Amino acid sequence: MSLKQSLSYITFLSLIFSTGCGSYSEFSSEATKDYSRAEMQKFAKYMVAGKQLYTTHCSNCHQESGQGLGKLYPPLAKSDFMMQNVNRTACLIKNGIKGEIIVNNITYNQEMPALEELTNLEVAEIATYIYNSWGNERGFVTVKEVETSLSNCQ
Ligand code: HEC
Repeated sequence: MSLKQSLSYITFLSLIFSTGCGSYSEFSSEATKDYSRAEMQKFAKYMVAGKQLYTTHCSNCHQESGQGLGKLYPPLAKSDFMMQNVNRTACLIKNGIKGEIIVNNITYNQEMPALEELTNLEVAEIATYIYNSWGNERGFVTVKEVETSLSNCQ
């Protein structure tokens, strides 16, 4: 290989490397640090789609910041209720929830409407987004997990 060739080869490699890592760095966390490149790529896709779905279907109530709204809408950011049980979260996204619940020591008793039109993939994208935003770091919620959760809703 000539010097010129090897230089352009190195430039080419570093270009792939930098764009490859750079584009996903905003999604990396403790939870995703062992993901392969392919997993990270898929994870990033879920996060982007999930954010869009969240903005459309959830942020009116839970807010862009995931902080919720006063005594009406509970927070998703650092929610102990959410962290306790991913299955329950998948079910409530699809079927809604009502009755008294306690989130981070605060009691809520309002109704969240069902979103039955969501596909399992969309539920997984939303769940992945809310479980990995605002300081939450759980890692992937896969379509398979969602499928299992939804077939066992209470
Ligand atoms: C119309 C307002 C509204 C919308 C839209 C809404 N929610 Fe809720 N959500 C609520 C309310 C109210 C509760 C508490 C229900 C209760 O008191 O039983 C709740 C509870 C929750 C909980 C469990 C409690 C917690 O804070 O951990 C999660 C998780 C959740 N919502 C996620 C979502 C997601 C994701 C979406 C969008 C797909 C969404 N919600 C859309 C009003 C809403």
